[in-house]
Amino acid sequence: MQTNTGRLTKDGIRIHDPSDFAGMRVAGALAAQILDDIAAHVVPGQTTGELDRLITQWVADAGATSATIGYKGYQHASCISVNHVVCHGIPGDKKLKDGDILNIDVTVIVDGWFGDTSRMYVAGTPSRKAERLIDVTHDALMKGIEAAKPGNTFGDIGHAIQLFAESNRMSVVRDFCGHGLGRVFHAPPNVLHYGRPGSGSVLEEGMFFTIEPMINLGRPETKVLADDWTAVTRDKSLSAQFEHSIGITSDGAEIFTLSPGNMFHPTYPR
Ligand code: MF3
Ligand code: CO
Ligand code: CO
Repeated sequence: MQTNTGRLTKDGIRIHDPSDFAGMRVAGALAAQILDDIAAHVVPGQTTGELDRLITQWVADAGATSATIGYKGYQHASCISVNHVVCHGIPGDKKLKDGDILNIDVTVIVDGWFGDTSRMYVAGTPSRKAERLIDVTHDALMKGIEAAKPGNTFGDIGHAIQLFAESNRMSVVRDFCGHGLGRVFHAPPNVLHYGRPGSGSVLEEGMFFTIEPMINLGRPETKVLADDWTAVTRDKSLSAQFEHSIGITSDGAEIFTLSPGNMFHPTYPR
């Protein structure tokens, strides 16, 4: 049984050893490869349940474990969040329609390390406003990652994301956040996607966490449906999300969940 190494900061954030990065690279690469491979299957008429079945199979084929199957009673290897679903959409029998936008979120466990990533896909041809939302959300995540370096704070990350999203007249979801991870799925800290510069814990080399902003075209408020999972925008406006798992290095951040095929950002067929 392997156990955690390294130490905890005063805020309870684990500082990982240099050798721990290797484990995160493998887990992150598998999650990202699965998100690359699912892209060809995201077409109008496809069901989200079938997409999840493929992902379930690919996780097993890789000899890995799904982190979400059995997590707090969740029964699927992915969350698939379509249009105004903000996150935690449950795969099912509903068919994708032309112009739908969707987030697919996969977390795998490889040799005890967790790789957690999500990105946006389009079925057919999205509207211009949906494209804009996806582009802004993607770029907001990247602004957050640019702020992720030793000496900066978690508030600096949240501020970078919030400033960019709101400058583009979109809103940041407050009800869900990123999280520390490593040999566990969800660990301190809560990684907020909004905030004040200089607030929050100071980033240190060896911290592993996700950044996963959810950005809405309308208002930021969400509600969870009666299935106890599906979170939607209260005003039914479109929502988008991108997620990377990263590790803080001596001078920045390593992204563990980079797309092997450079497919993290979707292309828009016209
Ligand atoms: N992968 C999600 C995250 O980014 C968590 C999904 S938990 C589930 O943290 F149970 F809904 F799958
Ligand atoms: Co996550
Ligand atoms: Co995730």
